[in-house]
Amino acid sequence: MPDAPSGKQLLQQFFAGSWVTQAVADRTRASIAALGLSGRCRVVGGDFFSSVPSGADAYVLRHVIHDWRDPEAVTILRVCREAMGPQSKVLVIENIIPPGNEPSFGKWLDLMMLLVEGRERTEEEYGRLFAEAGLVLTRMVPTTAGVSVVEGVCSGRQGIEE
Ligand SMILES: C[S@@+](CC[C@H](N)C(=O)[O-])C[C@H]1O[C@@H](n2cnc3c(N)ncnc32)[C@H](O)[C@@H]1O
Repeated sequence: MPDAPSGKQLLQQFFAGSWVTQAVADRTRASIAALGLSGRCRVVGGDFFSSVPSGADAYVLRHVIHDWRDPEAVTILRVCREAMGPQSKVLVIENIIPPGNEPSFGKWLDLMMLLVEGRERTEEEYGRLFAEAGLVLTRMVPTTAGVSVVEGVCSGRQGIEE
């Protein structure tokens, strides 16, 4: 395979990020095409520390924020905040740590996330991250899947609707 990249080139591309995000975008595009939904979706690869597409209705971050420490988590949310229009929402989907000392899957997952410097968070902690990123936490919706959807809008937005 004369055109195949060497191990060193692959590692360089991996740490540069471009190859990883492009590969994810390519596979996603193929999956969407297989479902016949290409006319309704646009797949954009990129680095969420730099930019995300602007003016979307919703910025869905599922199991993304829990990968990161607070400073990086705030950066990702702030990048979304900067891309958001007046009606946009950010939807963070995570296992939220419940109050109290009862066992919960989120608490167990929190121990695992220590290995990658990530963490699970309480609703209050998400509220603080949102505030630092210029967002207001408007509600948290539990689901039967165990995860909750934490909704945020731009702070200062008038007439926040339920
Ligand atoms: C724990 S996975 C969650 C994947 C998916 N959202 C889900 O719920 O199954 C975290 C995702 O963040 C993506 N990611 C990590 N760093 C990124 C970056 N700088 N820009 C864009 N995506 C990134 C990874 O490619 C990975 O798909």
